[in-house]
Amino acid sequence: MHDLRAPVVGRREVARGMWVLSFEAGAIAREVRAGQFVNLLLRPGPLLRRPFSVYRVEHEVVEVVLKGVGEGTRMLLELEPGDRVSMLGPLGRGFSFDPAAGSVALVSGGLGVAPMPLAAWEAQELGLTVHWVHGARTADELCREWEGDQAWWATDDGSLGHAGSALEAVPAGVGQVLGCGPSRMLAALAERWPEAQVAVETYMGCGTGVCLGCAVPRTSGVYDRACREGPVYPAASVRWDELPAHLHYTRSDAACGSLSLDVPPPLGGGLGRG
Ligand SMILES: Cc1cc2nc3c(=O)[nH]c(=O)nc-3n(C[C@H](O)[C@H](O)[C@H](O)COP(=O)(O)OP(=O)(O)OC[C@H]3O[C@@H](n4cnc5c(N)ncnc54)[C@H](O)[C@@H]3O)c2cc1C
Ligand code: FES
Repeated sequence: MHDLRAPVVGRREVARGMWVLSFEAGAIAREVRAGQFVNLLLRPGPLLRRPFSVYRVEHEVVEVVLKGVGEGTRMLLELEPGDRVSMLGPLGRGFSFDPAAGSVALVSGGLGVAPMPLAAWEAQELGLTVHWVHGARTADELCREWEGDQAWWATDDGSLGHAGSALEAVPAGVGQVLGCGPSRMLAALAERWPEAQVAVETYMGCGTGVCLGCAVPRTSGVYDRACREGPVYPAASVRWDELPAHLHYTRSDAACGSLSLDVPPPLGGGLGRG
C-alpha cells in the first residue's frame, strides 16, 4: 500500500456529469488489480478520505470516474492540473478470474462501470472472451468508453440499446459474471447468478481495516470489512436487504442490450498497464 501526493494530470467527461480524473501515481498504477480502490484525501477538504475504484491505468497514471454528489466529489471536480491529493492504495481485494471459464460478462450500472476496464484487461490477458454489459438511466448518462470483445448497452428509458433490466440481456452461456452498480441491481444479479462476483460500494471511513465503518453483512452471519475482506464478494454471500439502500448510486437500476452503432469502439489500444 502506498500513500502518494498525486497530482492531477487530466480530466474528461465520459457521460453527462460523469468525469474521469487522471492522477500521476506510478506506484499504485503498477500494482493495482481490477476491483481494488484508492482512498483520496483533500486538504482543505472533508475530514474523511473518499474511496474510488480504480477505473484505468496507463504507465504512471491512475484514473478514477465520479460524479459530483457531495462535498468531496465536488471538490475533486474543481481540482486543476498540478493540484495534488493524498492517494492511499491500492486497497481491498479485487476480482478473480477463471481462465477455464472461457468468457466473462462485466455487468455494470451507472458509476458501477468504475472497476470494469481493469477487469476487461485482466480477463483478456487470461484469454477470456469479454462481454461488456453497461446500463444507465438515459443515453446521455451512459458511459461510452468500453473494453472487451463485445458491448451490450441498455437504458431505463430505451434511448440506447435494450430498454429494460441490465440482467435480461447478459448473453447466455457466459462462463463468469462480475457485477458492480446499485445494490438493488446486485441483489437481483445474486439471485440469477449466485456464483457471480460483485464489487459493493458502501460507506467507508479509514479504508484500511481499522474503523469498522464499512461493515458488510454476510449470509454466514458475520460482518466483513468492505475495505479489507472486500469490496469484491461472491454475490450470494451478501445480505443485500441489510446494505444501505439510500446511497446516491442506488437510485436507478441498469439495463443492457445490443450494441448501438453510435457508440465508439473499445479504447483498449490507447490505454493500458504500460
Ligand atoms: C470501495 C468503494 C469504491 C467506490 N468507487 C466509486 C467510484 O469509482 N466512483 C464514485 O463516484 N463513487 C465511488 N464510491 C462512492 C464514493 O466513495 C462516494 O460517492 C463518495 O465518498 C461521496 O463523497 P462526497 O463527499 O462527494 O459525498 P458526501 O457529501 O459525503 O455524500 C453525498 C452522498 O453520497 C453518499 N455517500 C457518502 N459517502 C459514501 C461512501 N463512502 N460510499 C458511498 N456513498 C457515500 C451519501 O449517502 C450521500 O447520499 C465508492 C465507494 C466505495 C466504498
Ligand atoms: S473503512 Fe475503516 S475498517 Fe473499513
